[in-house]
Amino acid sequence: MSTNDSTHAPLPTGSGAARRVSQLLPVFPWDRLEPYKATAAAHPDGIVDLSVGTPVDPVPELIRKALAAASDAPGYPTVWGTPELRGAIADWLRRRLGATGADPSGVLPTVGSKELVAWLPTQLGLGPGDRVAFPRLAYPTYEVGARLARAEPVAYDDPMELDPAGLRLLWLNSPSNPTGRVLTPEELRRTVAWAREHGVLLVSDECYLELGWDADPVSVLHPEVCGDSHDGLLAVHSLSKRSNLAGYRASFVAGDRALVQELLQVRKHSGMIVPAPVQAATVAALSDDAHVAEQRERYARRRTALREALEAYGFRIEHSEASLYLWATRDEPCWETVAELAGLGVLVAPGDFYGEAGERFVRVAFTATDERVDAAVRRLGS
Ligand SMILES: Cc1ncc(COP(=O)(O)O)c(C=O)c1O
Repeated sequence: MSTNDSTHAPLPTGSGAARRVSQLLPVFPWDRLEPYKATAAAHPDGIVDLSVGTPVDPVPELIRKALAAASDAPGYPTVWGTPELRGAIADWLRRRLGATGADPSGVLPTVGSKELVAWLPTQLGLGPGDRVAFPRLAYPTYEVGARLARAEPVAYDDPMELDPAGLRLLWLNSPSNPTGRVLTPEELRRTVAWAREHGVLLVSDECYLELGWDADPVSVLHPEVCGDSHDGLLAVHSLSKRSNLAGYRASFVAGDRALVQELLQVRKHSGMIVPAPVQAATVAALSDDAHVAEQRERYARRRTALREALEAYGFRIEHSEASLYLWATRDEPCWETVAELAGLGVLVAPGDFYGEAGERFVRVAFTATDERVDAAVRRLGS
């Protein structure tokens, strides 16, 4: 091998080698929010941080008990998960989502859904020349996943207007982060038909599915959407939001059996294993609906209070029929809104974190305690 051949150049050593992958990735935007966070934190009554969608309420007791009961776990867990876990996932898909075709052979636990979103294109062998499409306003990790695989990221307004040439993976996200928009069964049905017609894998990120307020979100695995088969489809689910389990990293992917089996093989070789106590906790969480209903009530109260306060302050709220966010605008650049609210001690996320199309919006999470939400409402009203 010639060292002059750039395609076979030796890997740079030291920090040069360490930067190779991160250089593919977008700049991590949250650092830009730091000065506004400092301003908000200087409020005499403290910051109300509505910028991130991280749960703040306790992990339900029955889930903690299941985790503790499984804590004597000296051996390696399996990547595919225990039969109990796969059974609980399939039961949940059938019971809560109406996905009558779900079965334990078509499900796979993941270590939080973010890692799956980021690594799915790579784990499915996508690479240069392949295209990965996602909504123009979206959770940034869809683009990160495309870039990690060295595939081409493509943002869309309407998936059916995409050029199918080279398109290998199409992301849907309903309910959407950041807008809270919900796709109707008809929109889902048409997109599934389009993806199947063009041989494009459709992956639906449904991690807010149980958090519908003014809409009833439907899974891509529902027979009214996908018919009798899950071919060419995957649904991504997470317990982070519905069960306050962001700290546990509890999630799964389900759908096309052949794809799930392929992912299983790749993930076995790369050690993507959910810890055994978390597997047991996930079984408990998926088998109980009461804690989800209780958590939903907390969020519903906070959402209504914040929505009314923001509207009275002069905001217009768009979409936001589901998820944990209000997508709000005062028809001004988002960083002006961020600065003004930071002056009140309230931190929100600028819409341009989710794509240029969000540059006149802010995303307001209602994942703060009742006490902090009341503080925000008071400050917006004074
Ligand atoms: C749309 C979307 N997908 C996936 C995730 C990742 O969730 P987790 O990794 O906690 O399962 C998030 C988190 O905010 C999200 O908003």
